[in-house]
Amino acid sequence: MLEKTLRKFVPSVAALTYQPWFKIASRVFDVLPALLFRELRGLPPNYMRIRIGAGNRVFSNQIMYLNGAKNFWYYMFARGIVDTTSTIVDIGSGCGRYAHHMRDYVFKDETFTGRYVGIDIDQEMLAWCRAHFDAERFAFHHSTHESKTYSNDSPGEKFYRVPMDDNSVDLVFSTSLYTHLLEDEIDNYTREAARILKPGGHMGMYVFSMDNPPPSFGSRHTFKHRIGAAYVESLACPEAAVAYDEAWLIESCRKAGFVDARIVTMKGEYQPMLLARKGENIALARAA
Ligand SMILES: C[S@@+](CC[C@H](N)C(=O)[O-])C[C@H]1O[C@@H](n2cnc3c(N)ncnc32)[C@H](O)[C@@H]1O
Repeated sequence: MLEKTLRKFVPSVAALTYQPWFKIASRVFDVLPALLFRELRGLPPNYMRIRIGAGNRVFSNQIMYLNGAKNFWYYMFARGIVDTTSTIVDIGSGCGRYAHHMRDYVFKDETFTGRYVGIDIDQEMLAWCRAHFDAERFAFHHSTHESKTYSNDSPGEKFYRVPMDDNSVDLVFSTSLYTHLLEDEIDNYTREAARILKPGGHMGMYVFSMDNPPPSFGSRHTFKHRIGAAYVESLACPEAAVAYDEAWLIESCRKAGFVDARIVTMKGEYQPMLLARKGENIALARAA
């Protein structure tokens, strides 16, 4: 309740999390839970968990953080999109909320023996991931994109080439990333996904859809401004929240060389998933 009330006065908590005072203050809420529960000791600090999205749970997001990605992986494994030997690229990997399931998976003598590559613009979270994930299976790379919502202290080229070979990856995915990207950056990552995926490999990107808007549409979210194909919440900070028409998203996949692009969602969901499969014999759309 207190968290919900505070949230009303601070619409973009992510921006606050770069402030030194916020980092210290928010960590206070890590102390007692970590003393009581051993399972919570390896989590990234609270300000990072808030930065990547804790909803209204500014003080008590530990369990939500640990469980947030569970159903995503059930879906991907159940459909045979990945297995424990897969090569996976997670764009906008943050502090590793999706990666920790692969790191910690153990059943009898089975573990994840594939390769997991995270890409992000945030050097602080990349450094945290490098320190907390083994380098045999995990790598975390810095993207050159700029953002007014998230922080890149060393931006560079507008087109970022993902450091993976052509036709080498089973799944490229992102969660809560395309919801912060304008057209050029979406185009960049969709084309790169088409390049690096193996034929038959999948791309799954969470999006804000104008056809299936989030339950917050009309209150917290309006998407009332246009920048090209993007519907943005704020012209001053366009990457704060960005939505697209589903037809545009699907067409961008088709242009990059994907087949079977579709939106996977259910009623009342915040972020549908744009799911696309790379064709077996495709001519890739190359960056200009
Ligand atoms: C809402 S957070 C989601 C993090 C993570 N996917 C998760 O669900 O836990 C968005 C992440 O995307 C990163 N990001 C923002 N713009 C980016 C870009 N152009 N390229 C790569 N990462 C970006 C941010 O630094 C942040 O870690």
